[in-house]
This record gives sequence, structure tokens and C-alpha cells, in this order.
Amino acid sequence: MGSSHDYIALEERYGAKNYHPLPVVLNRGEGAYLFDCDGNRYFDFLSAYSAVNQGHCHPKIVAALTQQATRLTLTSRAFYNDALGEYSEFITRYFDYERVLPMNTGVEAGETALKLCRRWAYDVKKVPTNRAKILFAAGNFWGRTLAAVSSSTDPKCRDGFGPYMPGFEIIPYNDLPALEAALKDPTVAGFMVEPIQGEAGVIVPHAGYLRGVAELCKKANVLFIADEIQTGLGRTGKLLACDHENVKPDILILGKALSGGLLPVSAVLCRSEIMLTIHPGEHGSTYGGNPLACRVAIAALEVIRDEKLSENAERLGHVFREEVGKLRALRKWVRDVRGKGLMNAVEIAPDAPVSAWDLCLRLKEAGLLAKPTHEHTIRFAPPLVITESELREGCRMIHKAVCETL
Ligand SMILES: Cc1ncc(COP(=O)(O)O)c(C=O)c1O
Repeated sequence: MGSSHDYIALEERYGAKNYHPLPVVLNRGEGAYLFDCDGNRYFDFLSAYSAVNQGHCHPKIVAALTQQATRLTLTSRAFYNDALGEYSEFITRYFDYERVLPMNTGVEAGETALKLCRRWAYDVKKVPTNRAKILFAAGNFWGRTLAAVSSSTDPKCRDGFGPYMPGFEIIPYNDLPALEAALKDPTVAGFMVEPIQGEAGVIVPHAGYLRGVAELCKKANVLFIADEIQTGLGRTGKLLACDHENVKPDILILGKALSGGLLPVSAVLCRSEIMLTIHPGEHGSTYGGNPLACRVAIAALEVIRDEKLSENAERLGHVFREEVGKLRALRKWVRDVRGKGLMNAVEIAPDAPVSAWDLCLRLKEAGLLAKPTHEHTIRFAPPLVITESELREGCRMIHKAVCETL
């Protein structure tokens, strides 16, 4: 067994340098905790970007995985398997949609939603061929494919990867008049939006925004596509962030915690009118809908429901914002503490005496793992199985790390 230093050196030597990880090498996870190679225990306040809402290595999800893994893992969609039908019924009932299209990663589900939207635009809305337009909000993040970077406004995601996908238009986030104006164009087919922008720094729109989006899209005969890959599955204190405003997107995109962090599982849900515009051979994925993923996803969704994880996120989110919010009075450079449920962020001033990165290093020393998003924001998103006393202990660590600097 090597040391942490050795593992880091191996990645640095042989890997692509497309990430800049915090210098900690993990080899075990359990519930809200992660353990490094030297046996140190940490609170995980990132949850693999909200993929581990159910906690690390949840025994029920692991049992579903291991049982299925010894029987059948992959058939491809060239044949039927005995798990996909059951899963399709389960997930569509769970979220009250007519149909599901299973994929693997989040970005693939995003691509799938956009393809469905374009096809619906031509077949149902009757937009002239190749003229369909899809709107996105500035600050969006939905992955790293060429389509995703084409709709990005973040130069780090986008620059140097052109030429970009045509048919995309960016409008400001959290701006209903801007959406209303953009919807005047009859070639607009859809608006894809995160109910709370995650990677942009946990940007919570004003109350009524999602309701307004749903109403405006409906009026314009445009599909409201909600990217709930990060906000969904209990994270914000409801099963879906859209539930806070009782709105139902035309197309719902899920990923990340759909497997509780065990393997990539994503899904697109919508009504038949949209889903059935795609026919055999027009879209797919070798691993999409594989029996292993189906069994894992059923277990992962059962855990969210049976362990009342949305309710826990709602309750503990208030505790987090109250406790960590006190820092604003203690240190002027703590600009904002915001979020919903257990999707929260602390924003520090650009001229703060300590950087967000250094604060994360300090937090690591204290026993809590979190990661900056952009330069001045730290996201705090523990697994939703965290208890109140664990959360309060985490808040004390954050207080201590912040208050070390005047
Ligand atoms: C809102 C949102 N959509 C899509 C994605 C892409 O998911 P994946 O990394 O699984 O492709 C992410 C990833 O962070 C995300 O936060």
C-alpha cells in the first residue's frame, strides 16, 4: 500500500490534468463520512456533486447492486431484460410521468432531452426543418460535451472548443421578462433550465420564477425542460426543486443520485407526445437501461422515499443556514450564505483575507471536505442521511475555519 503522496504522484504522472483536486486521497466512504489512506475521517460536504444523497455505500443500494451483479449486468437494448420494464414502471409512477428514456451520465440525459425537444418541435409543433431553437439561461452548467459547452457562458468551459452548436440562445437567468421576449420567436422549441443553478454557485431564483417559466412556456407552446440532475432527488428539501412551486416540467432530467453514487445512471422523463417522436434506431446507448442500473436506481429511489431524505434536507437546511449564516456578522468578508434544503453555499468577498481554496484546505485539516465553485464560493452539500448532531459539528468546523482569519 502506498502513501497519499504516491497515489497523487501516479495520477499526476499518468492522468489528464482536467481536474484540480483537493490534496486528499480517499479509500472508504460510509454514510456522511469519507476516510483517507492514512485513516483520517472527514465529513463529506460535497457528496460527489450531489450524487451521493443517500450516503456513501448505502447498504440497501449496495445489496441491490451485488445481487444483480451476480445474475445479469448488461444485455444492451438489442434484447429485452427482466429489470428495465419494472424500473420503467417504477420511475414513471414515482415521478408521475408517462414514459422514461434511460441513459448513463447526466450530460447524456441533457443531450437526450434536447434531441427530444428538437424532434418534438419538427413533428408536433411544426417548426420548419433545422430551424428549432433552444433557450438556455446564462450561468447554466449541464456537462462537458460539445453541445453542453456550446450553451455555456463560462469561458473556462467554452473557450477553445469551437465551432459551437447552432440553434442555441442564451437569456439571463431568473428573468421572466427576458424569457417572455425570447419566446416571441415561433421557432423556439424549448427552454432548458436548472431550478437552482448549482455549478454557478448555488444561485437560487426568486420565488415564483419556476411557476412563471412553466406558465410562459405553456402559453408559447414551448417545452419547459428542467435539469434536476443536481437539484433533484431530495437535495433541496423536496423530491424535486420544481415541487417547491408545484410545477411540472414537460421534460424532467435526472442523474447523479439516481444511483446513490454507485454507477452512472440518468433518465429523461416526459409524456408520450414528446417521447414517442423518437423511433427505433434514432437514439440510444449501449449501457442505457442496463439491468444493474435499473435495480440500483429502484433501490436508490426507495431509500430517498423510505428514509424521508427530502424532509431531512428541508429541516437540516434551516439549521445549516442559521448556524453558518451567523458568520456574516462575525466576518465582513463572508458575503452571503444561501441555498435551499441541503444545497447551500458560502460566498466570500473577492478581497477576503483568505481564498475559498485556502478555506477548503483549512476545512480539510479540521475534518470536513468541501470544494470551491468558481473563485469565491464554497458549496456545502452533505449526504442527506447526515444527522442533526453531525451537521452541527460540521457547522462548528466551518465557523472555526472562517474565524481563524480576521
Ligand atoms: C445541473 C447539472 N446538469 C448536468 C450535469 C452533468 O452530469 P454528468 O457529470 O453526470 O454528466 C451536472 C454535473 O455536475 C449538473 O450539475
